[in-house]
Amino acid sequence: MKNLIEANVMDVFKQRSSTYHYDSDCAVSKADLRAIFEAGRWAMSAYNDQPWRYILGIRDEDDGAWDKVLNCLVEPNQQWAQNAPVLMIGLYKTHYEFNGEPNGTAIHDLGAASAFMTLEATNRGLSVHQMGGILPDKVLELFEVEDGLVPLTALAIGYEVETMEQPERVRKPLQDIVSGSVF
Ligand SMILES: Cc1cc2nc3c(=O)[nH]c(=O)nc-3n(C[C@H](O)[C@H](O)[C@H](O)COP(=O)(O)O)c2cc1C
Repeated sequence: MKNLIEANVMDVFKQRSSTYHYDSDCAVSKADLRAIFEAGRWAMSAYNDQPWRYILGIRDEDDGAWDKVLNCLVEPNQQWAQNAPVLMIGLYKTHYEFNGEPNGTAIHDLGAASAFMTLEATNRGLSVHQMGGILPDKVLELFEVEDGLVPLTALAIGYEVETMEQPERVRKPLQDIVSGSVF
């Protein structure tokens, strides 16, 4: 593991991190949310099937969705995510729309859309923390989920509060993840 920057990349990659410290007083604007979903909408996907779906919970709305999404997180995630003004569940479609065949890369495509959304949010000064620690059965119990959709992840979105805490961010060196002679 190492921490060195191995090449220059866009600032947004360096700015992004998964915070545990959300400012619970600071809401996310609808314009920002719309732009975040728009960024995800333009992600690439196998056969352009766009198999990602999101259940959106906004704390300040009175539809109860935010509370329900919070309840769909494993307890350790609830501890910090309860300060995030926006919580959502990421789901994927198990089968292609165009031919009804199983979509073996739907999970990959959901991740790609969430990554695009995360970078758009980062560019707008927001912080996204993705989670695999969710309770999929709870999602199915609390929300009306269409057949063929599987809850996989959650995303917390909001503004990060400044803390003294500076967690060390480690990454595998490039030669561990890329085969070939370039590096
Ligand atoms: C698919 C996925 C699932 C994750 N699940 C959790 C989780 O359940 N709880 C949590 O605290 N962090 C979770 N994370 C955040 C990772 O721990 C974090 O991205 C990683 O440690 C790297 O840190 P960074 O995002 O700040 O660079 C998840 C991230 C991803 C992409």
